[in-house]
Amino acid sequence: MTILVTGSRGKVGQGVIARLHAAGLPVRAASAAPAELTVPDGVATAELRLDAPATFDAALDGVRQVFLYPEPSGIDAFVKSALAANVEHVVLLSSSTVVAPGAETDPLAAHSLLVERALAASDLTCTFLRPDAFASNALGWAHPVSQGLPVELAYPEASLAPIHPDDIADIAAATFTDGLLRGRAATLTGAQALTLREQLAILAEATGRDITVVEITHAEAEEQMARYMPAPVAASLLALQKAASEGPAAIADTTGTLLGRPARTFRQWAAENAAAFTGR
Ligand SMILES: NC(=O)c1ccc[n+]([C@@H]2O[C@H](COP(=O)([O-])OP(=O)(O)OC[C@H]3O[C@@H](n4cnc5c(N)ncnc54)[C@H](OP(=O)(O)O)[C@@H]3O)[C@@H](O)[C@H]2O)c1
Repeated sequence: MTILVTGSRGKVGQGVIARLHAAGLPVRAASAAPAELTVPDGVATAELRLDAPATFDAALDGVRQVFLYPEPSGIDAFVKSALAANVEHVVLLSSSTVVAPGAETDPLAAHSLLVERALAASDLTCTFLRPDAFASNALGWAHPVSQGLPVELAYPEASLAPIHPDDIADIAAATFTDGLLRGRAATLTGAQALTLREQLAILAEATGRDITVVEITHAEAEEQMARYMPAPVAASLLALQKAASEGPAAIADTTGTLLGRPARTFRQWAAENAAAFTGR
């Protein structure tokens, strides 16, 4: 019974495909750009744009379970197509922000919350994985670090418990292979609270580069970030960082409790991805 993995070019989607295929399960890798996919031999691909319902039926044909990236604009049509195709179980890559105060009006949180609500109101069995910040968000610093430029931050003391994308993929794959968390929701974090400044210090060690942190104002950061993302999303991300400066991040340590082994550390992620910061 085929498992459809959406977001197949994404870091988590790629990890889920590799794990399910290695476990001998039939996987179909769906992407907005299937021609750009690199998938293991034997994995079928499909075009699926989560905001384009015309692409749903063909991708869902013969599918019983789905690993879903959140996209609220097409979710009602997706649920309808999934039920028509006899899909039973959907595992959503949601976000810890859905349980934060004000989630309904926050653009980042609402993106995932609307999808959770549409799924929860349906007859599908739903598993909601709610990760906190991904360790891979540090890739946003790759350009200044590789160019020897300072990293400019409004909230360098913002504390997060970054989770390695491979730990999310391990937990997601286990929801399909072992029934882990099936039908439930869980917040996923790494095992260690680190400020942004501490993450950069670890990156400096992993890359052998000096990394200077320059503190800028909230308004300066908002203006910079709005060059790369919609202004409301930039405002939302900065508000998260501001709130995270109040104290150490809460640790859910889900990898330890769910999988019975230590979470991958940010130091490990930095070592694995050092080349992205050095251009080597
Ligand atoms: N980053 C975080 O800290 C965080 C925290 C909590 C929740 N989340 C949730 O996790 C999801 C993805 O996280 P992410 O933003 O870090 O991204 P990601 O895992 O890299 O995934 C990005 C997705 O965008 C699509 N995409 C479009 N152009 C792409 C390109 N050139 N290369 C790779 N992928 C491309 C891909 O889907 P196609 O293959 O279908 O095109 C891919 O699945 C989001 O829904 C987010 O809400 C993220």
